Amino acid sequence: MSTTPAHLWWQTGVIYQIYPRSFQDSTGNGVGDLRGVIDKLDYLSETLGVDAIWLSPFYPSPMADFGYDVADYTDVHPLFGDLTVFDELVAQTHQRGLRVIIDLVPNHSSDQHPWFIESRSSRDNPRRDWYVWANPGSAGGPPNNWLSVFGGPAWEWDEATGQYYLHSFLKEQPDLNWRNPAVQAAMFDAVRFWLERGVDGFRIDVAHFIMKDPAMRDNPPNREHWRDLHKPLGDYDSQLHQYDKGHPDVHAVYRALRRLLDEHSADRPRVSIGEIHIFDWDVWATYYGAGLDELHMPFNFQLLGVPWAAPAIRQIVEAQEAALPPGAWPNYVLGNHDETRLATRLGPAGARLAAMLLLTLRGTPTLYYGDEIGMTEVPIPPERQQDPWGRRVPGLGRDGCRTPMQWDPGPQAGFSPPDTPALWLPLADDYRQVNVAHELQAPTSLLNLYRRLLAVRRATPALQWGRYRPVDDAPSDCYVYVREADGQRVLVALNLAAEERTVSLPGWGLGDVLLSTHLDRLGEADLSRLRLRPHEGICCLVIDDE
Ligand code: NOJ
Repeated sequence: MSTTPAHLWWQTGVIYQIYPRSFQDSTGNGVGDLRGVIDKLDYLSETLGVDAIWLSPFYPSPMADFGYDVADYTDVHPLFGDLTVFDELVAQTHQRGLRVIIDLVPNHSSDQHPWFIESRSSRDNPRRDWYVWANPGSAGGPPNNWLSVFGGPAWEWDEATGQYYLHSFLKEQPDLNWRNPAVQAAMFDAVRFWLERGVDGFRIDVAHFIMKDPAMRDNPPNREHWRDLHKPLGDYDSQLHQYDKGHPDVHAVYRALRRLLDEHSADRPRVSIGEIHIFDWDVWATYYGAGLDELHMPFNFQLLGVPWAAPAIRQIVEAQEAALPPGAWPNYVLGNHDETRLATRLGPAGARLAAMLLLTLRGTPTLYYGDEIGMTEVPIPPERQQDPWGRRVPGLGRDGCRTPMQWDPGPQAGFSPPDTPALWLPLADDYRQVNVAHELQAPTSLLNLYRRLLAVRRATPALQWGRYRPVDDAPSDCYVYVREADGQRVLVALNLAAEERTVSLPGWGLGDVLLSTHLDRLGEADLSRLRLRPHEGICCLVIDDE
């Protein structure tokens, strides 16, 4: 009798993030759209083999922050299509057995959202309290010292009504006041709207930001050199962000959201994944809820900034395992639309090992579009910069990881129709070699490695839900672990060194190599003396061991 526990689609599956502006342009305006995503669903489900897509925002928006400034939570920006195309996208995605996760942006709306237009129209407008308004501080000037993530103070003076409003990001992104129950009700109505249209889940933008200190105290200075594994954020790092986000009242909101999702999960489980940049594991883990009754998963971003060395990677994996509340499900992220491209961070050999790591660890992997072909960070000339963050704080721009998907070596890399006059961001110079069509033909390409990894993972229960067990007797620059389920045992051995290494596992017998990151090795291996070439990772079924 099988002891296999029931696992849900978002636990066994692999999520693929699509940045809609940059995936596929079906109209020839140089910007990707939802029809373009539909056109590429066969690539995602059959060629690549992922299980779910997460769409970054496609809502009506003035695009001050490329869609993370939402002007209508229940519609589609005409640039991307309309609700009919969205419905078709959901239907076609489901037909292929894939799931659809959409981005929910609850912390702030656009300053062009009718709610904010009303709110700022007068102090006694019924929607005034839907946003965070405050009088000047005692010495005049902003009410407190809070800073915007995107640089400068988090407060904008409104001359007409004589108060400041809070914006944790751009001034065009005013923070909603989640202490007002009407705000929660309105946002939950939007959630219901999309659930009823068939979406399978939500990625929740800066989920921890929505509740701030009700007394709005000043943040203390950050005097230490903060052991931050994440990218430095400029002046924003001069404070400890004790009061401007993450107030414990946030948990009641996510408990309520979870109830709403559960009410809509009779036909199939719906999922909530929080974008939560918290590097204290214990605080991070609270977002699962004490009774696993809040978010299904807070994103785990800690591999994004890890020094690429076996002990550091292992430390993160085991810290997450230790922090998880009983029964909670882990996850890993190696790239997204806010981060330097994986292949640029780690180089080509590192990117191959990272692919194996991400797809063999215990937990849900999230892939970022283009990482499967090794797209690199594209240098953007100043006159083509789009990202408001990069314009405000030089060096922090995110355009380089948002460039158009490279489909083929032809004009516009197959992203836009050939006669499209200009793309919203430039293509990478190397797109004639680094593209889907070319890599499909090249037997040992990165894309073929991802395809094999996804296929092996899908066919191997131990990799989908098996336990994780580290192997200690390995050279210090190798990371070696076992995944096991239902009597099936898979050894993963990653050699991070630029030289050959031998992993000696005394007493272990034969293994069957399922996959090498070099894609040139299969079949029997002697696990008592497992030789790994420079930068080679192997994934091996254990036939007999200790
Ligand atoms: C996090 C998103 O990932 C990022 O792209 C956006 O700029 C901010 N939140 C503000 O919404």
